[in-house]
Amino acid sequence: MSHRKLFLLPGDGIGPEITEEFVKVISLLNDKASAGFEIERGLVGGAAYDAHGKAISDDDMARAMAADAVMFAAVGGPKWDNVAYDVRPEAGLLRLRKDLELFANLRPAICYAALAASSSLKPELVEGLDILIVRELTGGVYFGEPKEIIDLGNGQQRAIDTQVYDTYEIERIAAVAFELARTRDNRVCSMEKRNVMKSGLFWNQVVTRVHKEKFADVELSHMLADAGGMQLVRAPKQFDVIVTDNLFGDMLSDVAAMLTGSLGMLPSASLGAEDAVTGKRKAMYEPVHGSAPDIAGQGVANPLAMLASFAMCLRYSFNMIEEAEALDAAIAKVLDDGLRTGDIMAPGCRKVGTSEMGDAVVAAF
Ligand code: NAI
Ligand code: MG
Repeated sequence: MSHRKLFLLPGDGIGPEITEEFVKVISLLNDKASAGFEIERGLVGGAAYDAHGKAISDDDMARAMAADAVMFAAVGGPKWDNVAYDVRPEAGLLRLRKDLELFANLRPAICYAALAASSSLKPELVEGLDILIVRELTGGVYFGEPKEIIDLGNGQQRAIDTQVYDTYEIERIAAVAFELARTRDNRVCSMEKRNVMKSGLFWNQVVTRVHKEKFADVELSHMLADAGGMQLVRAPKQFDVIVTDNLFGDMLSDVAAMLTGSLGMLPSASLGAEDAVTGKRKAMYEPVHGSAPDIAGQGVANPLAMLASFAMCLRYSFNMIEEAEALDAAIAKVLDDGLRTGDIMAPGCRKVGTSEMGDAVVAAF
């Protein structure tokens, strides 16, 4: 029996409630398929702050580093609005991303047939939509130096952010996108602004070279990021994998998210560098939504984004493709059966709570 080490960080808000639902899936996999998942739990965000005054402890960081994958639920809320910046709940998430060097953020935009009517686009444009946005997460303008506001001395000030990308940063994100494309429809569209940004031109050149050297079997196209935004809302199904930088990826993945109809449905993965010895990648999986403090503790949160995040974990960290597909199919089935949590409730459907939704997915799995 292989041992698969999962580190769970339920966080605060609805985090602990939705975590319990995918733990049911782990138990099922262990019992029925001898999957050998070992679970450890840690504290992050408000839960960690309340316990020991930090957003995540060094001990829990070490356990996150040692795990095969981290499952993160959600953190944040008004309760911690006035705590110091470096121990705020969000600081725990940032530290995990930074210390695990999670440079590749994967945001699928999948439109479940049963929810196509809740998209902001016409159902026929989004039915069957399945695209994957691969966003560079640790570089670019959010981190580049200099980053400051300076006094010009004449009553004027100047704000500076700097877009910086090194060769290796673009090479590794491009490689992730091409590798993922091979497991899907084998197409990558790279987006930048080469017409006005040196870093965009450079991005284009490096992606083109990586493609030619190692991934010539994958279909590669390039699009200016603004045109990409237009195409995403005009005809989203034309895309398979989109690879782009941190800033454009932030915006384009949020645009793509809204095509699918609901925030409570969206999973994400963040992948790190491959270990030179084991070939394994550090990885963290989390729903796109936050801690929903407005509904926390009521048993009404939608656990499906968390469950879909676990499906990504099965797929990318453990290569359990069959199980991942079965979990995705189980999620689609409960929606087809008309089960809805409050956030995705629609006329003619049956309203269920968090644990009833989780049980239904387990039953359909
Ligand atoms: P949010 O995603 O927590 O909530 C937005 C709205 O969607 C709320 O009305 C909420 O009830 C609803 N919602 C979200 N997830 C849901 C689910 N699974 N089931 C049912 N309804 C759901 O975003 P908001 O309100 O802007 O932020 C709340 C807190 O979460 C803030 O402290 C924010 O910083 C934090 N946050 C944390 C993230 C993370 O942990 N990765 C990501 C985004 C926000
Ligand atoms: Mg965003």
